[in-house]
Amino acid sequence: MTIAPTPAAPRAGWRTPSPASADVSAYLDLERGVLDRRIWKDEALYQQELRRVFAPSWLFLAHESQLPKPGDFVTAYMGEDPVIAVRGKDRRVRVFLNTCRHRGMRLCRADAGSTKKFTCSYHGWAYDLDGSLVNVPNPDAYPDHFDTADWGLREVARVDSHKGLVFATWNPAAPALTEALGDMAWYMDAFLDRDPEGTEVVGGVTKWVLEGNWKLAAEQFASDWYHVNMAHASALMVMSPTGRGPKSEIANTPGRQFTSPEGHGAGFPVHPRSRFDDQTVHGYYDYDQLRGRLGDARVEGPMTTGHATVFPNFSYLPVNGTIRVWNPKGPDRMEVWTWTLVDRSMPEDVKQAQRLYNLRTFGPSGIFEQDDGENWSEIQAVSRGFIANDTRLNYQMGLGIHRDDDPDYPGRVGELYSDNAARGFYGRWRDLMNTPAWHENPEASHG
Ligand code: FES
Ligand code: FE
Repeated sequence: MTIAPTPAAPRAGWRTPSPASADVSAYLDLERGVLDRRIWKDEALYQQELRRVFAPSWLFLAHESQLPKPGDFVTAYMGEDPVIAVRGKDRRVRVFLNTCRHRGMRLCRADAGSTKKFTCSYHGWAYDLDGSLVNVPNPDAYPDHFDTADWGLREVARVDSHKGLVFATWNPAAPALTEALGDMAWYMDAFLDRDPEGTEVVGGVTKWVLEGNWKLAAEQFASDWYHVNMAHASALMVMSPTGRGPKSEIANTPGRQFTSPEGHGAGFPVHPRSRFDDQTVHGYYDYDQLRGRLGDARVEGPMTTGHATVFPNFSYLPVNGTIRVWNPKGPDRMEVWTWTLVDRSMPEDVKQAQRLYNLRTFGPSGIFEQDDGENWSEIQAVSRGFIANDTRLNYQMGLGIHRDDDPDYPGRVGELYSDNAARGFYGRWRDLMNTPAWHENPEASHG
């Protein structure tokens, strides 16, 4: 019998030649507000997005309240990569690629739970909460140089949280989460910091599949109050406290829209003339106290209503507590994951009122959600056409109308009815798509 020399320990990943990447500048003329819809359906561009938009960006995974104890875990996606987020015995949250290092089986097949270790259902390799390989059946069958230390789970480079929201990125050189959020954190905190006790999620995660590119949803939540009066007309009639319908309640509502160089966006009426929040939740809040905590500008704006996207694919609506991820599933499909976020100090009946209100309005069969899904699916269906893809689209609303010195609202702010944040979203997308990611750098380590 010959004994082979011991090879160098393998790394978790190695550099494969990166497929050619396209310069996407030709698809967007953001200075003139024109967009080519091929960015919603092209398979090669989609693969480039996975490499250059999702792999390098901070992505939302879970709320800390889903992981209260050591051993608690949830599974999620980062782009199309499945991951496990688990709280270790040292109470640290770590995130691992959800694949066994033996034959690549999906290691954890549960949505959430609590465990002492993760055991693969194919051949039985088992991993500790810190990702190390701790059990291999038939160990004597392996050569002497086989070392379990070389075959631990692949760990996500950076994990951090903002006010209970857990984000992670594969990019070891990513800016800190606070820096990546920039001014967006001020707007997020209008929603996340109403309660000194913080927030939690209630009622599990609701998931459904939509025929539509993920950017259609992310862009709309960043930038589009414009559709509310038309697309949601029937829902607004049902929800209107006065029963007078949408024209008198929403049309020409003054407000602000925030856009940022990081691609985030938020829009909200200021001093809204009408309320569409749940009566029980509305009655719970002490608005004078909130003014002291968050300031008038936030209470009169982004605290209770409006829309927001944290680039690339995390969105939320303060009005009903929905937080959501638009998981990409190919260029023409997304899987929507939604949670209901509530303040920890809320009595149980108020939390449940918010959960039910969220489901009624923005659950998979919610009266607003269906309107949005219908529009995105139809846009996607039209995008199959040859001539349709040679027909450019208009993103010119609010072009050139913004300021960087609004006395009340930080960052670049324009009118509520504007495409500023959509142009900001696609500007960030274009810049990432045109920039080699860290894993394309010959000096980069794959760990
Ligand atoms: Fe996991 Fe074989 S694929 S043990
Ligand atoms: Fe909508």
